[in-house]
Amino acid sequence: MDLQVVGDYREMSELGAKIVSETIQEKKNAVLGLATGSTPEGMYARLVEKYRRGDLDFKSVVTFNLDEYVGLAPDHPQSYHYYMKRNLFDHVNLDPVNISIPTSSSDETLEEACRQFDKKIEHAGGIDLQVLGIGVNGHIGFNEPAPYLKTATHLVELAEETIEANSRFFQSKEEVPRKAVTMGLGSMMAADKILLLANGKNKAPAVRDSFSGLVSTETPASLLQLHRKVTIVIDREAASLL
Ligand code: F6R
Repeated sequence: MDLQVVGDYREMSELGAKIVSETIQEKKNAVLGLATGSTPEGMYARLVEKYRRGDLDFKSVVTFNLDEYVGLAPDHPQSYHYYMKRNLFDHVNLDPVNISIPTSSSDETLEEACRQFDKKIEHAGGIDLQVLGIGVNGHIGFNEPAPYLKTATHLVELAEETIEANSRFFQSKEEVPRKAVTMGLGSMMAADKILLLANGKNKAPAVRDSFSGLVSTETPASLLQLHRKVTIVIDREAASLL
């Protein structure tokens, strides 16, 4: 595990963008696993800058997003489909056929859509670099603390802490969807490399519990300690309890 503690959000975003850029530059058709949320916004902004300067080419890059809320249309401002367009996809030359985001539909097609999503990752040769944020409860993707965790992409009930934390993006807590579809631990842990970003004091307990040397499904990010190539880039505040 390569732990990099940096000064602040700006430095975290810069180092995160550098690591993603290196993967894209090393492999023309790199497969990226992408996270949403407030943590990687600065990193995406820097990737867009690098693309605009001509330092990065996304033409053959393939992307898989970690998760999506169930019940939000792709054009809903808080959907992760919309987030990705706003923060990255609308600004770089990614080919839309190379973009995959879990389904937001809760109907009878959901199970099959999850299966197809995992198959698509497999057909792409797996993920070269998986970018992750971390929830205040230690979740990765939307794999919430539980006595067991699922390996495949699946439907989840969001934990109360997650609903509470994500209510800052909505008008009220009641508007936060209670369900989501998330990539399971299987595709994430099979990624060649993993990059986890975290910033802020509110992430310090989750960071401490995840990288303390103990592994538990009650802190899903702690499983990353079992991966061979994990880089953790966190700011001083998130590292304050380590
Ligand atoms: C988002 C995701 C989540 C977030 C986590 C932190 O795609 O998978 O695990 O990374 O909830 O969210 P922020 O960055 O908003 O604190």
